[in-house]
Amino acid sequence: KPISIIGMPLDLGQGRRGVDMGPSAIRYATAQDELIKLGYEVEDLGDILTSSPESSVIEHQNLKYLKEVSLACEQLADSISKVVERDRFPLVFGGDHSIAIGTIAGVAKHYENLGVIWYDAHGDLNTGETSPSGNIHGMSLAASLGIGHPALVRCGGYAPKVRPENVVLVGIRELDQGEKELIRELGIRVFTMHEIDRLGMARVMDEAIHIVSKNTDGVHLSLDLDGLDPKDCPGVGTPVPGGISYRESHLAMEMLAEANKITSAEFVEVNPILDQSNQTAKVAVALIGSLFGKKIL
Ligand code: ARG
Ligand code: MN
Ligand code: MN
Ligand code: MN
Repeated sequence: KPISIIGMPLDLGQGRRGVDMGPSAIRYATAQDELIKLGYEVEDLGDILTSSPESSVIEHQNLKYLKEVSLACEQLADSISKVVERDRFPLVFGGDHSIAIGTIAGVAKHYENLGVIWYDAHGDLNTGETSPSGNIHGMSLAASLGIGHPALVRCGGYAPKVRPENVVLVGIRELDQGEKELIRELGIRVFTMHEIDRLGMARVMDEAIHIVSKNTDGVHLSLDLDGLDPKDCPGVGTPVPGGISYRESHLAMEMLAEANKITSAEFVEVNPILDQSNQTAKVAVALIGSLFGKKIL
């Protein structure tokens, strides 16, 4: 399928500046060339207009920049939906992980049942009630499941976007108490670092692909670069040691390419200000290559 790139330079879902430059950093790492080399037709639709912290106010400490984040996500959802209508593959560059609310809202309305692979150190399964930080980037998966503040949950005018049985988390190593409870309550399948160490990435991805493909007609990949180890991806706002390696991540992307199930993707939390020589964006572009079928031989 032809690919449409959309940049979402939003940093209001968390507390550190710089992740708004993520889309530029990924473009600078020549994402589009990489895809063209693989034979794809690619268009870049540019960036969604977002507010900056300087022009915004925090109204609710437990849901910081709620109005701004939800407005930007509505706009992203609109753009994404149009890309899907034109039968193109939406590829989003973030931006903090709150943007997944908009991406998934734009995609899910075109599918009966959307599968989601959440590749991340974190669950992003908080609500305004359970979040220790009030940062909406830690709430986006919960919102997509229909849990949380209506302004987030009802993005795109409908809810929920995905069912718990069609979601898998990969790479998890830091969860808040409320997130653990929600995972248990909903029975969501989580492959923590423990499972990756114990079973190996190949088996984890076999199982993950099986789960998100079962009774679904589309699969979204939401890849938070902090899922990888901070040694490989230092340019992220909430690094957690002991992450997925560069090699394991390539294997995961290659297996997704072979399975040929992914219908949309986003790469989020790239923060070039915290990075070294744009390394994290370069890793993102390398992973995008593998996801879209790049092979060594
Ligand atoms: N669980 C923490 C919180 O709710 C961290 C979330 C980090 N999320 C992310 N997308 N990097 O604040
Ligand atoms: Mn408000
Ligand atoms: Mn995340
Ligand atoms: Mn994360």
